[in-house]
Amino acid sequence: MRQHLGCLFVVGVFIAGCTAESPEDEAVTEEQYSAEETVTTVESAPQDHHSFANPDEVRLTHIDLDLDIDFDTETMSGTATMDVEFVDPEATEVVLDTRELTIESVDVEVDGDWQTAGYELGEAETFFGSPLTIQLPTDARRVRVRYRTSPDASGLQWLEPEQTAGEEHPFLFTQSQAVHARSWIPLQDTPQVRVTYNATIHTPEELVAVMSAFNDPDAERNGVYRFEMPQAIPSYLIALGVGDLVFRPMGQRTGVYAEPAVADDAAREFEDTEQMLEISEGLYGPYRWGRYDLLILPPSFPFGGMENPRLSFITPTVIAGDKSLVALIAHELAHSWSGNLVTNATWDDMWLNEGFTTYVTSRIMEEVYGQERAAMEAVLGLQDLQRDIDEIDEGDEHLVIDLRGRDPDEVFTNVPYEKGALFLKYLEQQFGRETFDPFLHDYFDHFAFQSVTTEQFLGYLEENLLGEHPGKVTLFDVEQWLYKPGLPDSALLPVSDAFARVDEQRERWVNGEIDAADLETAGWTVHEWRYFLNTLPDTLSSEQLADLDSEFDLTASRNNEITHSWLLIAIRNSYAPAYPRLESYLTEIGRRKLVEPLYKELVKTPEGTEFARRVYIEARTGYHYVTATTIDDIVNPNSD
Ligand code: BES
Ligand code: ZN
Repeated sequence: MRQHLGCLFVVGVFIAGCTAESPEDEAVTEEQYSAEETVTTVESAPQDHHSFANPDEVRLTHIDLDLDIDFDTETMSGTATMDVEFVDPEATEVVLDTRELTIESVDVEVDGDWQTAGYELGEAETFFGSPLTIQLPTDARRVRVRYRTSPDASGLQWLEPEQTAGEEHPFLFTQSQAVHARSWIPLQDTPQVRVTYNATIHTPEELVAVMSAFNDPDAERNGVYRFEMPQAIPSYLIALGVGDLVFRPMGQRTGVYAEPAVADDAAREFEDTEQMLEISEGLYGPYRWGRYDLLILPPSFPFGGMENPRLSFITPTVIAGDKSLVALIAHELAHSWSGNLVTNATWDDMWLNEGFTTYVTSRIMEEVYGQERAAMEAVLGLQDLQRDIDEIDEGDEHLVIDLRGRDPDEVFTNVPYEKGALFLKYLEQQFGRETFDPFLHDYFDHFAFQSVTTEQFLGYLEENLLGEHPGKVTLFDVEQWLYKPGLPDSALLPVSDAFARVDEQRERWVNGEIDAADLETAGWTVHEWRYFLNTLPDTLSSEQLADLDSEFDLTASRNNEITHSWLLIAIRNSYAPAYPRLESYLTEIGRRKLVEPLYKELVKTPEGTEFARRVYIEARTGYHYVTATTIDDIVNPNSD
């Protein structure tokens, strides 16, 4: 891949000129970073190992899409017309990322006239696709690519009607993060380039299209939908959903798009979204994206949520009926500051998106639902982190990781999330909220609509927090967090009094002092149940399992997180009565985080492997690319 040069760093402190501008940008001047630090000036820019693009020479600034959505062939076709800006006036070509796209023609606009352009589609690399190199005359202003997607496009999932809630209409959704936007749009697929976009989407007449852009809840169902996204966003946030969708308002600025069968339940479950939005604004400054709506997807959506601007994409598996899993909404909303406004410059810096977001989520949850719930969620998060740390390579335990040559989808752990959040919690504790809250607020403002590297964050941190309040945290302390495995001794680990009471109950039951019927579970929330199940010993007798199941009906639980924890226990102990539920769970849900650990547990025994293989043959047809590639490696590790 190419070397990217062109931004100016002074001993790790970012100076200027590296990121796309937006009207809301504040000019970043050299004076703003005191010139105390002199040392050497180096020309370098963060290297994105996951893109072929050449934004150091030519940058895209705007994309116009005109796409036909064809459910029969499971393809999109049409044009992407892109505004180009010469960063290097001598540049002669623009390099775009593509993945399994069929390129039909390429034109360039010079002086208002379109002319055929020379182009070359390079060899495909696993995970990353092929560079599309387009020759540019020096006065070229726009480039237009006519193309078609592949039915196997990694960023698209085409669903049959049976895979939807209504079972009558097909559904299509995109998932561009991390490197899949290129499978449905030819573009510079790196979080260092931001574009505005407009789109015209042609769909079957009975369906509705929505995007990560301005959506009109009253748009007529006529098969043509037009969108404008006037704020510059990185490619991984360009998103589209097409299905039988209706809209339900939740608050002034918040609402839900969903299939009719789930719309009311979703709007009720997520009714606190408006309050979450107000709380975030109180902490970190105005919400800059206009509306905040949710799109509820079918259960094959491979993630819990995706922070597509103005329209987060959400799994239906969190609609539990009791708001117990709504931290997911706080999380996707929090990305409106950490991620969408201030964006990680490369996927190696992903903790800047996810760690900050996990920290902000916890602040929102504490405010809306109280400290005890936020503490329980933090402990559950820590447990997830500890499980990962036991399994993964030391290098991946650093906050800043090295993803060179690796598929970012396959290096997905809790480290950037939970360790990142613990790092910010540590800073919060050292400096106090009265100092740390305004610091974060100003950080989001300062780098608004820009992409930042960890080094830039460090420069800003040193200048505006460590240096302003000397004697509290040193750069050495910070580096322990960023570049060392495990958790530093200084970590402030969350504790929950409610969980301490669960510990006591669990021990008595495990030791046979009491039966399940005597467990004092009255008043336990979903969180206490999850904690109880997650902390049971690995080995339990079938009598013990039957005792719990008959008392609390765990196999029939309607809460997908509780079911997940229970099924793990069932697999570990070959608890046969839960296997029909395990089979339906694995076939109905495609959210990777919920199914992956179950397959991993199953393949630990020959009988489990046989069960996993049998179920997976059917389940795989319903899984998204991301989930299927992960599970393929677990269930059939040697086949390609
Ligand atoms: N942006 C992520 C999802 C993502 C990350 C997609 C990396 C592709 C590559 C999203 O905001 C997220 O973190 N989702 C979590 C939410 C959870 C931590 C509350 C998920 O899907 O589980
Ligand atoms: Zn996230």
